[in-house]
Amino acid sequence: MIFDTHAHYDDEQFEADREQILASLFAGNVGAVVDVSAELDSAERVLELAGKYPQMYAAVGVHPDDVGGMSAERLAQIERLCAHEKCVAVGEIGLDYHWMVADKKTQAQWFAAQIELAKRVKKPVIIHSRDAAEDTLNIVRGERAYEAGGVMHCYSYSREMAAAYIDMGFYIGVGGVLTFKNARKLREVVEYAPMDRIVVETDCPYLAPEPFRGKRNCSAYIAYVLDELARIKGISREEAERITWENARRMFRLDM
Ligand code: NI
Repeated sequence: MIFDTHAHYDDEQFEADREQILASLFAGNVGAVVDVSAELDSAERVLELAGKYPQMYAAVGVHPDDVGGMSAERLAQIERLCAHEKCVAVGEIGLDYHWMVADKKTQAQWFAAQIELAKRVKKPVIIHSRDAAEDTLNIVRGERAYEAGGVMHCYSYSREMAAAYIDMGFYIGVGGVLTFKNARKLREVVEYAPMDRIVVETDCPYLAPEPFRGKRNCSAYIAYVLDELARIKGISREEAERITWENARRMFRLDM
């Protein structure tokens, strides 16, 4: 079974056919999905969606693009939502210097605050980091995020940087990008990373793998990512699927 560790089915791109898509995925080979809140106000929405499907879980948190609107009150609300039975992680949180919607100082402040929150509620973190490799590593180390554990979602940095996260006990999140022609750096990371540290994800509706690149992504397409992962690791697709399932289950501390 496929375990999609990072999806956004609450996104408006699924507005017209969300229920049909999820029903057909869960009737097929998709066994579990974590829907990750990204916007300031989406935590309640992802929990509501997760509540509708036994195979669906939620992560609550605020994406670095959206932390400009954060407040102590909102952080306290998110902390309360972490107690929900379907909440398995705090995320996605981190730094994004590509779009730089919020300034660096604001991003760092709320990244650190949400790591502290994850440690208090004893849930793993889902970390988003784009064009911010050094600062992310510094905050992860400074805030001892490894005490919460979790995943570097949509990993896009070097093999050396991956080694630092793996040594701290983090998982490496791999998605559709692995199938792209220009993914040499990510292939090197996947070659290097121990198989028990890799989890698969869509980030849907974004980042569909080849041959659907540019189209709307969904969890079933993880099959193409698993094919490429199996090829790189020299194992069967079934083995890649089984191990990534087990890794995700362990990371989110799920009994299933
Ligand atoms: Ni995402």
